[in-house]
Amino acid sequence: MKGASNDNLSKAASRSLKAIETHCQAYDNPYIPIRAEILDVIQETTSQTQDVKSFILRPSCPLPFSPGQFVEVTVPGTGEAPFGFASSPHITDTIQLCIKRTGYVTDCLHRMRPGDEVWIRGPFGNSFPVDEMTGYDLFFAAGGLGLAPLRPLIDLIFLPENRVKFGKINMLLAARTTKDFIFRYDYGRWASNPDTELRLTIDNPEPGWDGLVGFPHMLVRDIPFDIHNTYAILCGPPVMIKALSDAFSRMGMPKDRILTTLEMRMTCGVGKCGKCNIGHTYVCVDGPVFSVAQLDKMPGEY
Ligand SMILES: Cc1cc2nc3c(=O)[nH]c(=O)nc-3n(C[C@H](O)[C@H](O)[C@H](O)COP(=O)(O)OP(=O)(O)OC[C@H]3O[C@@H](n4cnc5c(N)ncnc54)[C@H](O)[C@@H]3O)c2cc1C
Ligand code: FES
Repeated sequence: MKGASNDNLSKAASRSLKAIETHCQAYDNPYIPIRAEILDVIQETTSQTQDVKSFILRPSCPLPFSPGQFVEVTVPGTGEAPFGFASSPHITDTIQLCIKRTGYVTDCLHRMRPGDEVWIRGPFGNSFPVDEMTGYDLFFAAGGLGLAPLRPLIDLIFLPENRVKFGKINMLLAARTTKDFIFRYDYGRWASNPDTELRLTIDNPEPGWDGLVGFPHMLVRDIPFDIHNTYAILCGPPVMIKALSDAFSRMGMPKDRILTTLEMRMTCGVGKCGKCNIGHTYVCVDGPVFSVAQLDKMPGEY
């Protein structure tokens, strides 16, 4: 009898999950996750110190999002964690997440294979102010995994119909070592766009390396760009963002044109639990994208 009632329970659960998926109620209720199948797993870094993999997921219903937004990913029995979208926003039937192995959830995700399933809630958060940036030159500066949340914006801007709306594009991509770069398969495609310069830098010289060496904030002064007509979009470790935004603002760039995205600890993702707040700001709903002018008005807890 006990077994039968458990069977019924799981049948009922499976029926209601099917109903959720069919009607995509997740769009109306941010607490309801949707099922997503792992289609592919890409090993991004090959260094001993950083294990980063990309996961291509097929959600059970299309998931439109804007560059800068994030999802909460649940691994049943383990936990839930937030990750920024790392794929092109014009593709909605699959999404890419680029995930560094750091703890319980990410460790479990890294052991998953194509065909396995996770559950996702979202999209959450604000996005990059693409309309405000239109007509400007753009300077992308990313450190390590910081390139992941910028990739949707980069891909959006490089669509031929959008590329003409922006001026010169500089990209300065930093990694600790040559083995720590992510999305290497994109660099050729990005660099082949008109009026676009892509530079790679690593922290210390390595045999055979003919790119730049040094931290991004030490290199920006030597890169020609029009400080009066440029938006800087930065993402990376907090220390890199601080040093770079100081360098750009010392050079005369207004702080409302220096944008970044924060990775505070989060739980609900919808402004209810108070886990992510900085003063009166909830990073999960007011962010994660902020200008340095906005960050300067917030307590320095990030
Ligand atoms: C909006 C947003 C977007 C994010 N995007 C990405 C992404 O694209 N790729 C990615 O790999 N990670 C991203 N993160 C960070 C990611 O959510 C955490 O690494 C993840 O929650 C760790 O979960 P875990 O269970 O594996 O680690 P845990 O077992 O919970 O923790 C492992 C270690 O990491 C530390 N830690 C956990 N979360 C954070 C955090 N948010 N900030 C600093 N330290 C933390 C813990 O203190 C502990 O030392 C994002 C976070 C936010 C808020
Ligand atoms: S994560 Fe719950 S309020 Fe932001």
